[in-house]
Amino acid sequence: MNEPVNVVVTGAAGNIAYSAIFRVAAGQMLGENQPINLMLIDIEPAMNALNGVKFELEDCAFPLLNSITTTFNLNQGFEQCDYALLIGAKPRMKGMERKDLLKDNGKIFKPQGKAINEVASKKIKVLVVGNPANTNALITMHNAPTIDPKQFTSMMRLDHDRSLAQVANKYNTNIKEVKKIIVWGNHSNTQVPDLSNAEVSGKNIKDIMNEDWYKNDFIPRIQNRGAEIIEARGSSSAASAANAAITHMRDWVSGNNDWLSIGQISNSNPFNISEDIMFSFPSICNEGSYEMIKNIEMSEILNDYIKITEKELIQERDSVLDLL
Ligand code: NAD
Ligand code: LMR
Repeated sequence: MNEPVNVVVTGAAGNIAYSAIFRVAAGQMLGENQPINLMLIDIEPAMNALNGVKFELEDCAFPLLNSITTTFNLNQGFEQCDYALLIGAKPRMKGMERKDLLKDNGKIFKPQGKAINEVASKKIKVLVVGNPANTNALITMHNAPTIDPKQFTSMMRLDHDRSLAQVANKYNTNIKEVKKIIVWGNHSNTQVPDLSNAEVSGKNIKDIMNEDWYKNDFIPRIQNRGAEIIEARGSSSAASAANAAITHMRDWVSGNNDWLSIGQISNSNPFNISEDIMFSFPSICNEGSYEMIKNIEMSEILNDYIKITEKELIQERDSVLDLL
């Protein structure tokens, strides 16, 4: 057994957290040899509900769960934090875009970034889930200047997994047969799900793909999947978002050679994307780090789509300059 590590979950009394926390405590994120101190953060009015989550965690008798702390105090919660899932934020309602949440949610991430800067482990790995996730991650990163910007990521894994599933479904094959998918840009309806390098059962998808399906069915379906779920459930995705958060962090920690989509700081990218935005790039995970896949050619049509999502991220950033 390893020494225990400190794992923060914010929004810990909320829906996504309720699907995520128990899986973290069961070892599905950091492995079966990794004891965990769970640091559960929410706002003060949610402390009663959060205590209920704590009681349920206790009742699971998870062998890896070394301790549980519930708090609304950020410096207490992030003290020596090794891994953070920043979920706590308002979800959107029907008819809203995720960027409509920026005014209310952006300000949550400034104090969290500051607390991370002051009291967390300098090796902390941060995943921002709360929407709009990319720009919230940028706010968090900017407020933690003593920590390497690469240690802040935003969640694009759900969009990535949605893309894998739609392709596997279309070609009636197993998810494992689908490789080299990319989702570029923002976790918004401007994101660019890209199949130009994709393979199905070892063959280039271009050999079998119907262009009309790709442009008029696949791309808009992935771009609008969050809204499709809100329309159907009446509330936003929770279990699938929790799954994406756990697998994002798991792969970052333990490695994964498959192409993945990771929202990361755009500095020094070879794709001519502006610096200082949290942009999703194709990446692979080594044990404890991720690496952008750089030797990819972009078609002109894809480049046009990518400029739209880049512009949106620049506009989001420029609307929260006071929080950076
Ligand atoms: P929810 O309303 O069920 O839970 C949110 C929780 O956050 C609540 O318990 C609330 O009290 C808490 N909270 C609010 N302000 C906080 C603060 N300052 N500090 C700590 N906690 C705080 O919402 P949910 O369904 O769990 O969704 C959470 C967020 O995740 C939303 O913004 C949603 O849009 C986003 N989301 C992102 C993705 C993605 O792919 N990036 C996917 C699904 C949902
Ligand atoms: C999702 O993609 O399901 C989430 O970002 C929730 C939303 O608002 O769409």
